[in-house]
Amino acid sequence: MTDMSVEICGMKFKNPIMPAAGPNVWNGDLLVAAAEGGAGGLVSKTVSVQPAKVPRPCIVKVKDSLMNAELWSDLPIEQWLKDEYSKAKKTGLPLIASVGYKAEEIREAAPKVVRAGADALELSTHYLGNDPGPVIEAVKAAKEVVKVPVFVKLSPNVLDITQFARAAEGAGADGLVAINTLGPCLAIDIENAMPMLGSTNGYGWLSGQAIKPLAVRCVADIVRAVDIPVIGVGGISSGRDVAEFLMVGAAAVQICTAAIVRGAEIYGVIADQLSKFMKAKGYNSIADFKGVALSHLPKEPLRTTAEPVNVIDSKCTACGLCERHCPYDAIHVVGRVAKVDPVKCYTCGLCVSVCPTRAIRY
Ligand SMILES: Cc1cc2nc3c(=O)[nH]c(=O)nc-3n(C[C@H](O)[C@H](O)[C@H](O)COP(=O)(O)O)c2cc1C
Repeated sequence: MTDMSVEICGMKFKNPIMPAAGPNVWNGDLLVAAAEGGAGGLVSKTVSVQPAKVPRPCIVKVKDSLMNAELWSDLPIEQWLKDEYSKAKKTGLPLIASVGYKAEEIREAAPKVVRAGADALELSTHYLGNDPGPVIEAVKAAKEVVKVPVFVKLSPNVLDITQFARAAEGAGADGLVAINTLGPCLAIDIENAMPMLGSTNGYGWLSGQAIKPLAVRCVADIVRAVDIPVIGVGGISSGRDVAEFLMVGAAAVQICTAAIVRGAEIYGVIADQLSKFMKAKGYNSIADFKGVALSHLPKEPLRTTAEPVNVIDSKCTACGLCERHCPYDAIHVVGRVAKVDPVKCYTCGLCVSVCPTRAIRY
């Protein structure tokens, strides 16, 4: 029997998959939809003492990723306190409420949000800059006024994210969430030479598949720098992506972009994919493989040579993707199967990562 439940800071989640703060959890109804879609816990859109004045347009699709200029919730906090959190609470799932940004805003908003039912807080540090000082102040303010666990969501737009992670832990944070969006970025509509987004300078923040490797690296670094749980977020769109975050030590994960693009059912779809992966690998619980990749992340390069890759003939569909991607002309579809030239193979590994059926292995 595969057990996907996790316990974080005393909260029990039936699976490790939850929404990340964004338009996918814009109000209470969408939090209910996330629960019905199969999420193991809930995270609500960031609120602050004043509603945000959100620029328009505020979201643009860039290949498989998104750029946004959305800010925090433009619903008044009073509406969240009166109507929206209570809808989420009725689902019975743990509710982590995102609150921003500066210490004095958090001191005012946090107790109200907890009284309205939040089981934990997530402090967004997105607009707090490159100095950990304001993050420390924000955590201390929250810890002074609430008793529930306080998570700090870290921005990747800093030189050393572990410095922020340690600072948050030192200030009393109970857990961390990594990462927020990457940027600022810019996209131009070449039909009219205008920025695609309506924000200052047209700037926006990147999320989705493009940032997943950055998020995985940040989580791996943070997990090794602190002793509190780390929730991974950034570019997750499949059960295999979740497994990757768990293997570098994430306690659970959050999803925003994929839920915007594919709808609230995605949480359950991804939970099913994770469950199938666990069964195939013989993992009975999340603890069975949480952090297993960390011991393979040495400080010095571990491998400078590798054996040429092998093709499992029965799995190869002769699609030719490996042949088209190989920079060294070392793999060719011959008849109905890909064949590797071991002399030409540079063992770069690109074919392994593009093969859609995972027929190519080391
Ligand atoms: C349109 C949009 C709005 C977002 N709003 C918030 C927010 O209010 N608070 C926050 O902490 N993060 C916010 N985020 C960041 C996400 O929660 C998440 O950290 C980031 O998008 C990376 O995850 P993803 O690749 O699964 O989207 C937003 C992201 C998007 C795309």
